[in-house]
Amino acid sequence: MNARMRRLPHAVSGDHALVLIGIGKVGSALMGLLDALRPTRLRLVGVANSRGQWTNFREFSGLDLGTLPSKLCGPRDDAALLAALDASGALHRVLVDASASEAVARRHAHWLGRGYHVVTANKCLLGGTLLDWRNVESAREEGCRYGDSATVGAGLPVLSSLRRLRACGDRLLGIEGVFSGTLSWLFNHFDGNRPFSALLREARSLGFTEPDPRIDLSGEDVVRKLLILARTSGNPLDRRDVQVDDLVPEELRNLPTDDFLASAGVMDEAIAARHARAHSRGCVLRHLARIDNDGCARVGLVDVPAAHPAARLQGSDNLFVLHTQRYGDRPLVIQGAGAGPELTAQALLADVMAVA
Ligand SMILES: NC(=O)c1ccc[n+]([C@@H]2O[C@H](COP(=O)([O-])OP(=O)(O)OC[C@H]3O[C@@H](n4cnc5c(N)ncnc54)[C@H](OP(=O)(O)O)[C@@H]3O)[C@@H](O)[C@H]2O)c1
Repeated sequence: MNARMRRLPHAVSGDHALVLIGIGKVGSALMGLLDALRPTRLRLVGVANSRGQWTNFREFSGLDLGTLPSKLCGPRDDAALLAALDASGALHRVLVDASASEAVARRHAHWLGRGYHVVTANKCLLGGTLLDWRNVESAREEGCRYGDSATVGAGLPVLSSLRRLRACGDRLLGIEGVFSGTLSWLFNHFDGNRPFSALLREARSLGFTEPDPRIDLSGEDVVRKLLILARTSGNPLDRRDVQVDDLVPEELRNLPTDDFLASAGVMDEAIAARHARAHSRGCVLRHLARIDNDGCARVGLVDVPAAHPAARLQGSDNLFVLHTQRYGDRPLVIQGAGAGPELTAQALLADVMAVA
């Protein structure tokens, strides 16, 4: 066993001690899952949001999500969270990142290097610069686990499949799919009868978009997922290698969110025209991410024919079509609900459990 992972000389109770960073939609769902399951070998010893943390839970005894924020003590201090993990005496000390913070993501490699396992829904590091990716890869080789299932497809078995294929000598030749639940929902529902901006407002009111839907429409979140998939399959792509079709018109990019929502109708004519063109060719419009056989990586709207697997998507399904040497003519297709706090929390919990 790695010396840094030795059991610490304190009272031992439970194999896993857990710190949860981020108690928004996903973090709250994870706490709800823990509350429902009450896993005996796992203790939550700290939680944090951007303003503070609360540590030293003796056991997981059903946190009241309503009152939790008032219990957090500021200022935010990672040292308090790590001290709670160390004091737990647990065999496995795990930090779960359920934030979207770049600053938090930048600490992952450091934590791995200090002997903590990291489980993350936060894509900022793996989908960030190549240097960040490589830092995590080398820290991970030191023996600690880096659970990343929740970063793509909300835990659909796509990263695990890529790793398995690669370990068995198969080679990814190309990948395409719909990697955003939000953009999947929008284009699965858009039929040209209602303005796109009205559909966008509906999606937002249903909680299917980010509070600022430009984060979804820009395609940047999809780019991060594409980079993670490419890198996991052995292709060290950089952000500048990916062409992105930003759906937000230039004049709306820097407005405050409310002003953007009020002006979103500016997008309607262009998207309706793209829809009509696709329809006239017997196609539908889908937001696809692709890496072709020639290595060209693109993210944006594409006319897809009715026979394409993306044409048959429903709801906020994600789709991953993997073309490999062995899955040559008939690609490996992974499809299913690819968003939502509960599914994402489940993927985090599964990665935590896999630490053992
Ligand atoms: N929602 C989904 O369906 C889904 C699916 C797959 C992956 N994800 C990923 O999961 C992550 C969380 O998503 P979410 O929907 O739960 O977001 P969210 O509701 O906005 O919650 C984010 C949480 O992170 C906290 N946070 C921000 N900066 C922090 C810091 N420096 N230290 C500690 N906590 C910090 C926030 O605290 P404050 O409230 O104080 O700002 C908040 O509690 C994101 O990376 C997202 O991309 C989400």
